[in-house]
Amino acid sequence: MTDKLIIFDTTLRDGEQSPGASMTKDEKLRIARQLERLKVDVIEAGFAASSNGDFECVKAIAEVVKDSTVCSLARANDRDISRAAEALKPAASGRLHLFLATSALHMEKKLRMTPDQVFEQAKLSVRFAKNLMGDIEFSPEDGYRSDPDFLCRVLEAVINEGATTINVPDTVGYAIPELYGNFIKNLRERIPNSDKAIWSVHCHNDLGMAVANSLAGVKIGGARQVECTINGLGERAGNCSLEEVVMAVKTRKDYFGLDLGIDTQHILAASRMVSQTTGFVVQPNKAVVGANAFAHASGIHQDGVLKARDTYEIMRAEDVGWSANKIVLGKLSGRNAFKQRLLELGVAMESEADINNAFAKFKELADRKSEIFDEDILALASDESASHDNEQYGFVSLSQHSETGERPQASVVFTVAGKEVKGESDGNGPVDASLKAIESHVKSGAEMVLYSVNAISGSTESQGEVTVRLQNSGRVVNGVGADPDIVVASAKAYLSALNKLQSKADRVAAQG
Ligand code: KIV
Ligand code: ZN
Repeated sequence: MTDKLIIFDTTLRDGEQSPGASMTKDEKLRIARQLERLKVDVIEAGFAASSNGDFECVKAIAEVVKDSTVCSLARANDRDISRAAEALKPAASGRLHLFLATSALHMEKKLRMTPDQVFEQAKLSVRFAKNLMGDIEFSPEDGYRSDPDFLCRVLEAVINEGATTINVPDTVGYAIPELYGNFIKNLRERIPNSDKAIWSVHCHNDLGMAVANSLAGVKIGGARQVECTINGLGERAGNCSLEEVVMAVKTRKDYFGLDLGIDTQHILAASRMVSQTTGFVVQPNKAVVGANAFAHASGIHQDGVLKARDTYEIMRAEDVGWSANKIVLGKLSGRNAFKQRLLELGVAMESEADINNAFAKFKELADRKSEIFDEDILALASDESASHDNEQYGFVSLSQHSETGERPQASVVFTVAGKEVKGESDGNGPVDASLKAIESHVKSGAEMVLYSVNAISGSTESQGEVTVRLQNSGRVVNGVGADPDIVVASAKAYLSALNKLQSKADRVAAQG
């Protein structure tokens, strides 16, 4: 058995299924490049057959990513598989990931198929896929709640047809570490050709055990691939968190005895990029990437760490990218330093003109703020990429008046399909007035289900980062906006969410 643990990142597929986390093509490309920089082994770029938008994203990622395998999810049918293979054509190394539910509940209630029909479809779909690509992963959806005898029958058949990776999803996050580990061990022991495939774990976090279950699948079950997402992003309580699983295996090499290809110094930048892009804020006490993960507040701990770091630290902050991010830029920093930082943060700009635009915005910001942090640069890059996506709405300017005892008034100028319009309104506060000013013109009728403000770099001088979550006709989207003025940041976030609502992605869900 190999000593390498394969890290399969599904931030752009399973992570994106989280309500409101949908990303544009440019955003996905930027994250894919960062995952490649992190040296993730496999990037699940999307679910090509679910929408034309997803097809284009998988294709674009397959075109640019060269060092990681690029994968597309597909239901176990010829149309989905062909579409995924088509999107993956440009990939230096591509993988088809087929899934079909095998639990009694899913087969009967969702698929309305008998076990024999599921068995046949699983077998034939892998046979079909194998003619298009060598690297085939098969996932029995809701695998952990499936009858082990039936699962053995299906998995033996798909390995015979050429599946090279077998992934056992705990789709609903029901597993317990020891039981999940043994479940995989038993499958591997009972299936005669199990050694012909790499075994993989895919755990959801509904009971807060996705990381523990995945690690048990590795340690007890002998799995050699973990499926995970940056920041544990994902539907409901999320997926197994990449940074936690990677740092557990690396820090406790004495226990796991496994090698990883991951360049952990890029973890923090990846975490920030995903959080800023999706608007899913990382909690301060989150392991590895939370703002407090390496902060020692108590006097006893501070004293101990100063005397000898390992008294209270089991990992080095710089190993996951913390110290690298202390480098700040200021108003005297030149275009080259700015460009270099963009590169280090994994932000690729298409042309010199784009870099010049972003640099001009950086200079404007540096005039208002003495130190520019990585988060500020990522926010600038998001603004720049939003204006590239030919968005329907774009922010131009805002003025508002508020005074104690008076009802605030706001007037917002923005573009609709490139044409400037102006909306005016009063409101309960300046933010409310500004968003109502936009809405007075757009009349989206969307319901706001979340509004949150976060100081990007911790002080009142910092940029405010606003997340707005809107819901309309069953769709939920997040918009993110950043600016030193939080009213402006709010208007930008609102327009960004409206843009996402506007894009008529008619998706097929991978689960449910
Ligand atoms: O959780 C799950 O079952 C999945 C499959 C589609 C692999 O995400
Ligand atoms: Zn999943």
